[in-house]
Amino acid sequence: MERFRVTGGTPLVGEVRVTGAKNSALKLMAVALLAEGRTTLRDVPAITDVTYMAELLRRLGAEVDRDDDIVTVDVPAKVRFAAPYHLVRRLRASICVLGPLLARCGAADVALPGGDAIGSRGLGLHLAGLEKLGATVTVEHGFVMARAGRGLRGGNVWLDFPSVGATENLLTAATLADGTTVIDNAAREPEVVDICRMLVRMGAKIDGIGTSTLRIEGVDGLSSTLHTTVPDRIVTGTWAIGAVMTRGDVTVLNGRADHLEIVLDKLAYAGATIDTADEGLRVAMWDRPRAVDVVTLPYPGFPTDLQPMIVALNAVAEGTAMVTENVYEARFMFVNELARLGADVRTDGHHAVANGRPRLSAAPVAAPDIRAGAALVLAGLTAEGETLVSGAHHIDRGYPNFAGQLNSLGAHVVRESDPDHFDA
Ligand code: UD1
Repeated sequence: MERFRVTGGTPLVGEVRVTGAKNSALKLMAVALLAEGRTTLRDVPAITDVTYMAELLRRLGAEVDRDDDIVTVDVPAKVRFAAPYHLVRRLRASICVLGPLLARCGAADVALPGGDAIGSRGLGLHLAGLEKLGATVTVEHGFVMARAGRGLRGGNVWLDFPSVGATENLLTAATLADGTTVIDNAAREPEVVDICRMLVRMGAKIDGIGTSTLRIEGVDGLSSTLHTTVPDRIVTGTWAIGAVMTRGDVTVLNGRADHLEIVLDKLAYAGATIDTADEGLRVAMWDRPRAVDVVTLPYPGFPTDLQPMIVALNAVAEGTAMVTENVYEARFMFVNELARLGADVRTDGHHAVANGRPRLSAAPVAAPDIRAGAALVLAGLTAEGETLVSGAHHIDRGYPNFAGQLNSLGAHVVRESDPDHFDA
């Protein structure tokens, strides 16, 4: 077990390059299962979740190679359709193999992923949608077992909530179904668009890409392809918020400002200077930021994955502001850790009200998940003294070389083994 030792007080200044999005790359790897042959993915981030997904795909019969930021997935004519619990539990996103396996094999047995530290995450929309496409779905012994012996058929699906994962599973399942599928109230996240683009390149017929109504005309087969992953808007947003919190000046190369419109609007309100140059995005902050009210919503709303960082920003900003979390019911658990750094943040249900403090004070804290972990490290950068953030492995799931990149921007962050960790 490792931790980050963060010495506060230095602004983040300089250039940093953002790689492809975790939430896209993992799904693109699963999409590769839809076609026999070798698919090549570029700009895949060097994070542990990619390692877990590679292992799962190998288990399903694919050969997966990784060379720097390029991942190749070689898919045999016949893939296996059982995704076991010991792999799925490490990576909730592995539920995204359900759609491709069902489309390709007419069967999928995928272990239920279980919970994580941000709240219960149901699968009802995934399963009800697949039933609309003609699958028989049962949940038994901790597995989702889906069958479509005579193949899937097109259908109309209305999602109660624009779930990212359900949209992706239905989309991938529908590409090889017999007839036309319409997904209404579909998720519009840039990562969903990225998956659609890759599918189209493989031969899928999809209309309405980037809108909340996706229309998919099933085809007989898809072919393997080469695709470059969309840049990670959450990592880009993390650097932007970090620049504002530390009163720094960061240019995020490869960062897409058009995928972060509301976030950048909020940072401009906080007082940041924002420059959206061709090669990237520059965020600079000269004074103490102003606290900002934020409401998380599905895209194009403010992303829930940047909520912990914006609460951390409010904790050091001038004034009082409220953050409302609408996507996950338990995503404020990290606020207790922030309080250990002296933050004045109160939560009530899905609201968090922060009274900004001019400076936090360093303390040992624990990262409960990827994004809250990154937020605690950013908070540590503004604190007086040395903040120890344990649970570095959580952050490794979503941020390639986080400590190294922070140090390249002038921060003082050391990654070290955690002598206080013990297994009971
Ligand atoms: C994806 C992202 C995650 C991000 C989230 C919302 C990946 C790997 N993860 O997660 O980082 O925070 O989108 O932008 O891409 N829900 C149900 N029933 C369902 C499906 C979802 O109740 O069948 C609920 C979930 O419990 C959650 C909310 O809907 O409260 C959002 O879930 P969803 O959009 O599906 O998120 P994920 O795809 O799991």
